[in-house]
This record gives sequence, structure tokens and C-alpha cells, in this order.
Amino acid sequence: MIQLKNIYKWISTGGNRTFLLKDINFTIKEGEFISIMGPSGSGKSTLLHILGMIDEPSEGEYLFEDQSVFKLKEKQRSALYKQHIGFVFQAYHLIDELTVYENIETPLIYQDMKSSERKSVVADILDRFQIVGKKDLFPNQLSGGQQQLVGIARALAANPKVILADEPTGNLNSKQAEEIMELFKTLNQQGVTIVQVTHSEKNAAYGSRIINLLDGRIE
Ligand SMILES: Nc1ncnc2c1ncn2[C@@H]1O[C@H](COP(=O)(O)OP(=O)(O)OP(=O)(O)O)[C@@H](O)[C@H]1O
Ligand SMILES: [Mg+2]
Repeated sequence: MIQLKNIYKWISTGGNRTFLLKDINFTIKEGEFISIMGPSGSGKSTLLHILGMIDEPSEGEYLFEDQSVFKLKEKQRSALYKQHIGFVFQAYHLIDELTVYENIETPLIYQDMKSSERKSVVADILDRFQIVGKKDLFPNQLSGGQQQLVGIARALAANPKVILADEPTGNLNSKQAEEIMELFKTLNQQGVTIVQVTHSEKNAAYGSRIINLLDGRIE
């Protein structure tokens, strides 16, 4: 489903290249549940952003269902993302001007879902995440953990076939974290492909394979 070939990512500063990722190669099959681990600064978020088509590699090729993602036109790539990928950001990235309800509804609007259907999908997800009471609040009126839950809810709303989650439980209490991991497990059993970044061995154990990063390289 996903193939990364010789991916490099660097930043140029004053004629010098700082490498964030070096020669990354791997394949992800549909239905896999993968954990990316490694110390802080090892390039995990950078790699996940590339997988999420949010950030472009400096070199190398990314194939998503045999389409070369970064050779597509911006519009096609964006359509591919909206159609298939649910991304949970490490720093939530909720839209400050939108309520919890509207944040969760946004990806459904992108998918051209009808208003009546959106209402029922959002209601369902608010219920599932036990945040019905928060639906009219804005992100800055929520705790960090609540914002994280809304970020996960938004990523799952459109039923993506790939979930990319950057430390999805980093700000949750242990009970909430376990619930999210159980939810991921259920979705994975239903065929959803999952790639999570985690520092937690316990969370990683939910997956079937670990990719270890060190200094931008796969170990
Ligand atoms: N836009 C950028 N400009 C310069 N350096 C960057 C940029 N983005 C990331 N980096 C650097 O790249 C390295 C990898 O960052 P990344 O966010 O991928 O790490 P990470 O493994 O996700 O870390 P953490 O576990 O702390 O989230 C870090 O040293 C970071 O400072
Ligand atoms: Mg990170």
C-alpha cells in the first residue's frame, strides 16, 4: 500500500545540509499496525509528516497505492490525502476559530458528505469519545488531553483507511490512553492500516511491527 524508497530530508542552512532523515526504505502493507519509535529528535514526526503527504522529502520516492505521491499535482495529492488519510498531529493542530463540533466536521466537508449525514457522523463520534458536552467549546477552552481527544476524533471521523498518529496518547491519562489503543486495535481488526509514533512500549505492543529511528536512520 505504501512504499518509501531512498527517502532523504534535509534542511539547508548557510550552505550546510542538516539531515533529518537519511535513506529511509520500507513498505507498509494494507492492514498493518506499525509503531515508529526512537529518541526525541530522531525524525519520527518528520517521517510521519512525509507519510501523511504534509511534508515533502528532499529526495527519494513515496508510492501510495502505486501512485508516486510527490509527482502528483498538488490538487491530486490533496484529494488522495482527504480521501484516505486520517492524521493525528503531535501538537493537535485544531482550528482555533472553530468549535469542537466544527473541527470534527471539517474533514467530512472535504469529503463532500451531505449536511444531514455529517450531523449524524459527528454526533456519533462525539458520543464515542464522550465529548458531547464540549461540542460548542473552542480549542483554547479545553485541556491538553481534551484537545488531543478532539484531534483523534477528527482524524477518525471520515473513516480513513490509513491512520497516522503522532504520539496520540501523549497527553491522555492511562485509562484514556488504553481506550484509544483499544479503539485503534478494533479499527485495525476491521482492516484500517495504522502507523503510530510512540515512546510507550505498552502502546507499541498493540502494533505488529516496530520501526526504530536513530538520528534520522532506520536501525
Ligand atoms: N523545520 C525544521 N527546521 C530545522 N530543523 C528541524 C525542522 N523540523 C525538524 N527539525 C529537526 O529535525 C529533528 C527531528 O525532528 P522531529 O520532530 O522529526 O523529531 P521527533 O523524533 O518527532 O522528536 P520528538 O520525540 O521530540 O517529537 C530535530 O532535531 C528537529 O530539531
Ligand atoms: Mg515528534
